[in-house]
Amino acid sequence: MNENPYEIFQKEFPDLSKKFNELIEVQKSLKGMDSKTKQLINLAIQTANKNPQGVKLHSMIAKSEGATREEVLCAVVLNLHHSGLSSVLGCLPAAIDGFDEEIEKKHPKKEVPVAKTNQDNKIEYQGIIIDTHPEVYKPAEDTYLLINNLDINRKDEILEIGTGTGLVAIYAAERSSKVVATDINEKAVKCAMKNTITNHRYNVELKQGSLFEPVEGRKFDLILFNTPYLPTSEEDKLEEDLNAAFDGGLDGRDTIDAFIDHVKDYLKDNGRIQIVQSSLADVDKTINKLKELGFDASVSAGEKCFFEEIVVITGKLL
Ligand SMILES: C[S@@+](CC[C@H](N)C(=O)[O-])C[C@H]1O[C@@H](n2cnc3c(N)ncnc32)[C@H](O)[C@@H]1O
Repeated sequence: MNENPYEIFQKEFPDLSKKFNELIEVQKSLKGMDSKTKQLINLAIQTANKNPQGVKLHSMIAKSEGATREEVLCAVVLNLHHSGLSSVLGCLPAAIDGFDEEIEKKHPKKEVPVAKTNQDNKIEYQGIIIDTHPEVYKPAEDTYLLINNLDINRKDEILEIGTGTGLVAIYAAERSSKVVATDINEKAVKCAMKNTITNHRYNVELKQGSLFEPVEGRKFDLILFNTPYLPTSEEDKLEEDLNAAFDGGLDGRDTIDAFIDHVKDYLKDNGRIQIVQSSLADVDKTINKLKELGFDASVSAGEKCFFEEIVVITGKLL
């Protein structure tokens, strides 16, 4: 029998289940704590009750109330010393399932074009052919997630910070009036320059430098940045230039925060930004900071990877 047990309860005991639903609504309306905390507590209680189905449901709701994956899993694991390892192990997969289902519900996976790597290590993506370089970030899931969720208008003047091989800039330039693409890594700027030429994209202007330094005094309709978002300790750092592609400092937010603090100065009225980061670098913090600065900001796309979710955050200046 595949029917959901709660649906059976509702069908067999309609009056009782109606009263039960009312009780839940009253509990939800209690003002003593915020709705995310209530869901995390429910998760812990369901784990203690050894009820994976309840755990899955509350994990989905907790996610929709803004809980992170770490918070959801923590609520389950906190039960270890009360209900033992077998309860925690019995409920952990359900918590992950619930969390991931919520992500997919909000951001259903679109059919996206696949990148091909040919014999001479060139990447072909949507008609663009890209040469790579060992010290330049090679286009990956986050690159393609950004490309497939770009919000571009034909007349836009766009700035892409951290262009890497230039793939995003070239794709965006085909759909807009002009793209200025920058990178802190000199090898990336050279690689991107070569790629704009081989792809005959003459409306891409390339500049080397950190964040907004190369575009002082200029303003754009749209600013893009697939950020270096990985939490990185001193031991994790690389000697090479490639380090800049992922190193977000200890909490993954060094470059993200520096970017957000100044981005408004480089946007035209009603300008937009689209940035990529990981759930490991506190997505809520980015959204809250943007809202404080006067942006309408939200996660516009996401993709689960093994231990994190990569998201595109879109912000519009109000
Ligand atoms: C995750 S990679 C993304 C590369 C490319 N946009 C893509 O999506 O494939 C991040 C890029 O940002 C660059 N970067 C890191 N910090 C920067 C900074 N402060 N200013 C400009 N570029 C930076 C890195 O060199 C790297 O090329």
